[in-house]
Amino acid sequence: EAIARRGRFTLVLAGGSTPEKTYQRLADPEMTSKIDWAKTFLFMGDERFVPADDPASNFGMVHRSLLRHGLVPTENVFPVPTECESAGRAASQYGNLIARFFGQAASTAPPPSFDMVLLGLGDDGHTASLFPGMPALAVDDAWMTSSPPGRLPPPVDRVTMTFPILNRARQVQFLVAGEKKAQVLQEILESEPPVTKYPAAGIRPVAGSAGWLIDEGAAKLLQRSRVD
Ligand code: 6PG
Repeated sequence: EAIARRGRFTLVLAGGSTPEKTYQRLADPEMTSKIDWAKTFLFMGDERFVPADDPASNFGMVHRSLLRHGLVPTENVFPVPTECESAGRAASQYGNLIARFFGQAASTAPPPSFDMVLLGLGDDGHTASLFPGMPALAVDDAWMTSSPPGRLPPPVDRVTMTFPILNRARQVQFLVAGEKKAQVLQEILESEPPVTKYPAAGIRPVAGSAGWLIDEGAAKLLQRSRVD
């Protein structure tokens, strides 16, 4: 739909482990023949501040699962520049890169709208690298920011998209798997927890939609009527 309407599809990828199989699947011949990779542009919603060849790198995971097959033109892929001297510098450079891509001045409002943003959910309620109680949650004047690590591993600094840009997406799609996410997922979907407690609750696209792809384990505490 994005390609038909605007000539390109801009996709923000989630890190962590849950999306790995999804990315592998996108490289299957059956799936990949349905995707116009030449018109698809890939960005990272967050990154661990480690070199791309570090086992903890989100981009490394995307490379192993999808990019190594050579289907996506290299010039369509935008990793976070973790070779910078600090996570803060990487965040501002990535913000500038996004601005150039969309032909906007960096960090102006409103931020650009990605066609689709994939997000994960941590069992502490974080999403992207927006961790409970951290200053990154309050950033409203930048599209990208840095953050110290949260309580879940790996204990390294992060670079993350902020709420203003994530919430401009045309579509946000959460991928959530495993019983240890059940409690936090139930609270986010069935009550209104504070965003400082569960940052994923702060994802409310201003003009787009948010969807949840949830496996049985993660869904087990949801009221049946919500599970379809
Ligand atoms: C990261 C993330 C993070 C992730 C969740 C879920 O860098 O860790 O991008 O937000 O999506 O922590 O991670 P799992 O899929 O590994 O549970």
